[in-house]
Amino acid sequence: MFDLSSRIGQIKRGFDVFRQVCINCHSLKLFKLMNMCGIGYTPKQASLLVKRYRLIDYFKLPYKSNLQAKQLNNGVIPPDLSLITKYRSFQWIYNVLTGYNSPLIRNESNLYHNEGLEQGWTAMRPPLAYWCVKNSFNAPHSVHQYSQDVIRFLDWVSEPWIDIRDKLILPILGSLSIAGLMLSNSLLLKTTKKGIWKHIITSFPFKSFENYCN
Ligand code: HEC
Repeated sequence: MFDLSSRIGQIKRGFDVFRQVCINCHSLKLFKLMNMCGIGYTPKQASLLVKRYRLIDYFKLPYKSNLQAKQLNNGVIPPDLSLITKYRSFQWIYNVLTGYNSPLIRNESNLYHNEGLEQGWTAMRPPLAYWCVKNSFNAPHSVHQYSQDVIRFLDWVSEPWIDIRDKLILPILGSLSIAGLMLSNSLLLKTTKKGIWKHIITSFPFKSFENYCN
């Protein structure tokens, strides 16, 4: 089962990578600062994490228009990352974030060569570099570490309610099945008393079907 408490440190570091780097190009349409309260920030602290957003604002694309987004990104609008871990594996994302050549290789359309991608080229300029993220956490400042952390953060974004799910799933299932039992029980009693079962069976369209055959 997903153990949120052991991941909180990594998710917090991952958010630092996101808010300092990825946020400059990508949206996170399923995320708002309020969600950070789920991993130990007070609302006051959370509201200070990204200046331009209030607690209840979802993270939008940071461009005036789609046209501007394309113009600034080699003709491609940076995709929303809220659900990226749902349709790409951790390894795939990691390979992309760490797959640039050094020195960089670019083609005639200004795309960057990236070994993590099947087609080999991407419009995303290499987002991470050593020491590119400032934070007060005691973790290595490497592209490897930033990538792992930001992927954990993105995975949490795709299911910010996961800890609630783990805590509530049993009580909810339990009460639902009790309610279901009570309901079916009372229905059964009612219908047998009034002989509704008989009614249902006789009104079933077998009769008319027979008529068609004859
Ligand atoms: C300078 C702008 C920019 C920054 C900063 C940036 N990206 Fe991107 N990213 C893009 C663009 C543009 C694409 C689309 C690339 C393409 O399709 O060729 C992209 C694509 C991606 C993809 C591939 C998605 C897919 O489905 O193909 C992932 C994953 C990704 N970015 C993650 C990140 C992460 C994580 C960060 C922060 C560490 C980040 N990006 C920072 C511009 C950026």
